[in-house]
Amino acid sequence: MSKSLNLFLPALGGTALLLGGAYGFMSRDYGAKTIESLEIRVEQSTASAASAVESARAAEAEIERLAAERDELQVIAAAGGGLTQPAPVAEAVYGLGREALPEEIAAWDVDVLPDGRGLPVGSGDVWTGEEIFVAQCASCHGDFAEGSGNWPVLAGGFGTLADEDPVKTIGSYWPYLSTSWDYINRSMPFGAAGTLSADDTYAIVAYILYSNDLIDDDFVLSNETFMDVEMPNADGFVLDDRADSEYTVWRTEPCMADCKDSVEITMHASVVDVTPEEEGEEEAAVETEAAPAGDADVVEAAVDPALIDAGKGVFRQCQACHEVGADATNRTGPHLNALLGRTIGSVDGFRYSNVFGAAQDAGDVWTTEALEAFLTDPRGAMSGTKMAYRGLSDPADIEAVLAYIESIGAE
Ligand code: HEC
Ligand code: HEC
Repeated sequence: MSKSLNLFLPALGGTALLLGGAYGFMSRDYGAKTIESLEIRVEQSTASAASAVESARAAEAEIERLAAERDELQVIAAAGGGLTQPAPVAEAVYGLGREALPEEIAAWDVDVLPDGRGLPVGSGDVWTGEEIFVAQCASCHGDFAEGSGNWPVLAGGFGTLADEDPVKTIGSYWPYLSTSWDYINRSMPFGAAGTLSADDTYAIVAYILYSNDLIDDDFVLSNETFMDVEMPNADGFVLDDRADSEYTVWRTEPCMADCKDSVEITMHASVVDVTPEEEGEEEAAVETEAAPAGDADVVEAAVDPALIDAGKGVFRQCQACHEVGADATNRTGPHLNALLGRTIGSVDGFRYSNVFGAAQDAGDVWTTEALEAFLTDPRGAMSGTKMAYRGLSDPADIEAVLAYIESIGAE
């Protein structure tokens, strides 16, 4: 704290000296003003110095706190040694993590391999094993490992592997003894996994072997005698070499190039009729000939495929409510077949709004102009309509959609 204050005080003294000097060689008036403004500045400087001192104090307190924390952690680290030693600086660019310590690896490295590698030093005999088994395992696996209820059977089942319902036990099925040791040590008793000591496990495995008639009752199982035990089904598992030994007999490599001597075209898809033509196109063609000669608009629209195509795109906005074409039925809105010249609100079986009902009563018909007005602003043109649609703002869209409706909706 004191350090930062020392830095500040001489600066304040300097300002005062400057003040005195300035007074000496200036006229009174000018001097008075200058003094006034300098005094204000001194006041300001003093205020900001005070607040700087304040934050310097806070910073210093924080430094002290962190230093204390660091010292404390160093003491803990020194006392703990081993696992709590600080992480070595990593060489890699990212500087993440550190190499695992031997103790850490050992804590994870608990597996036991078929050749006995990984077995801890220890031993257990059959009768010790029986005691532990009866106390900790028999409730589920039976007193003699014969199984109880639906819990797994651990003994017997010899000669059943080829049956429809084989009894697979440690004796009849398991090829390696290491699996029994490893599995029991890690996961049994069910619900209390990890509670068995190495000696307990050796004893239990010895008892299970005895229950399977694979060792005599005076056998002591240990990390040294482990490999003496012969497992009946040790040769029952083979490496799957079918990819080499069998597949090649049945199949050959598929041909990927020049697989036929000569290639001829025998038929075209259009002739075979794999792709049926679109209904709309056919009707458009018919329409061109059948359209009443008097209505120039319709004929023009029908003969311009690009316009009809554009109209089909616009009609997607109407499709949710309207159908048009040979199979068109009323949906949310009435079908739109033969729309031009049709009496407004006249489709059978469709329940129109009152405004449409009135138009029908008056005998009004849909002209191009009326449709343009309605589709531009449905609610403006037919106040009270139940067509919940905002309308089409682009006249080109209206022209196109009407052309499309006419092209496929003519009866
Ligand atoms: C509460 C019931 C229960 C107890 C107690 C119990 N187990 Fe198990 N055991 C099971 C169940 C359930 C399985 C099947 C687990 C699975 O398939 O995931 C099993 C599976 C096994 C297997 C593998 C069987 C196989 O063929 O797949 C062995 C070996 C085994 N237990 C041994 C023991 C030993 C040894 C003990 C005593 C230390 C023990 N169990 C205690 C319920 C129990
Ligand atoms: C949300 C549903 C909905 C959408 C979308 C919609 N309409 Fe309608 N339309 C209706 C309903 C409902 C009516 C009946 C109006 C009434 O009775 O007030 C109607 C009526 C009409 C009528 C009058 C039919 C007749 O029999 O008098 C035409 C023409 C029409 N719509 C064209 C279109 C076109 C073209 C589009 C797309 C650009 C469209 N509509 C979009 C629901 C919809």
